[in-house]
Amino acid sequence: MPKLTIVTREGEEREIAAEEGRSVMEVIRDAGFDELLALCGGCCSCATCHVMVAPEFADRLPPISEDENDLLDSSEHRTELSRLSCQLPVTESIDGLRITIAPED
Ligand code: FES
Repeated sequence: MPKLTIVTREGEEREIAAEEGRSVMEVIRDAGFDELLALCGGCCSCATCHVMVAPEFADRLPPISEDENDLLDSSEHRTELSRLSCQLPVTESIDGLRITIAPED
């Protein structure tokens, strides 16, 4: 099972096992990181699942859709590493990915 390292807003790190076929948002939320609100439940309409991903994994993730791009633009904290974690499927190719939960908007 792929492992992800999650970094909280306070800088604490924890490694979690991520089940393939789920979204990165779901595995972070279900691991008890309640600062990742994911208010819309994963339908790409809230941007409260905003995370930063390690740049070396960028080409192993699906491209940013127009909807995801528009929502990320609504965040004051967007960087070139920003993604919406509900749009990232867990696959074996992201094993070891380090993910930082974005500051709250
Ligand atoms: S959970 Fe709402 S956009 Fe990802």
